[in-house]
Amino acid sequence: MARPTKIVVASHNAGKVREIGALLAPFGIETVSAGDLGLPEPEETGLTFQANAELKARAAADASGFLALADDSGLCVTALDGDPGIYSARWAGPTKDFDLAMKKVEQALKETGSSDRSAAFICGLALATPDGDMDYFEGRIAGALVWPPRGDKGFGYDPVFVADGYDITFAEMDPDAKHAISHRADAFRQLTDVFLK
Ligand code: IMP
Repeated sequence: MARPTKIVVASHNAGKVREIGALLAPFGIETVSAGDLGLPEPEETGLTFQANAELKARAAADASGFLALADDSGLCVTALDGDPGIYSARWAGPTKDFDLAMKKVEQALKETGSSDRSAAFICGLALATPDGDMDYFEGRIAGALVWPPRGDKGFGYDPVFVADGYDITFAEMDPDAKHAISHRADAFRQLTDVFLK
């Protein structure tokens, strides 16, 4: 594939669009969001990060006629058989209350009786061309969950996640430090190695 100059970011989440735009800017790639183009937001009916990322990327590429990039991510807790996983955003309910979501994870872990606190953030990235091609990359960062939540710098489940080899949570880390090691950075490194070298 020739190096793209413009990519539609298949998301209506302003934070995600900004972060992806910043990651692609050094490669001279202009990003425009599905929201800005007024594209409809497909329902995330997939059962894996890959299925959801691919259906979002496909919908945006088909509707816009441009290369489209979609991200689907979440927190997978070992003792919960990978939950909340693809349902990470949904565990926070309609008001996107992540204090509630973190409490739900804590409660669910207590109910298992397991002392295993290992977890990983996963990021699936799908890149779809308007003529039907699709590529998929998956990044991860392993760590452990801690309570009570600590730090106010991140979002989502960051206050309860400590990456392996660290003793502060993602929400206590400087954003640049988190972005250097995160699941999203890992997935982007794989994508840029293939397409943007
Ligand atoms: P998506 O928008 O369907 O991909 O939902 C991703 C959800 O996973 C977010 O709403 C967060 O709850 C969670 N998540 C993904 N990445 C991170 C992260 O880096 N820190 C904290 N939570 C994350």
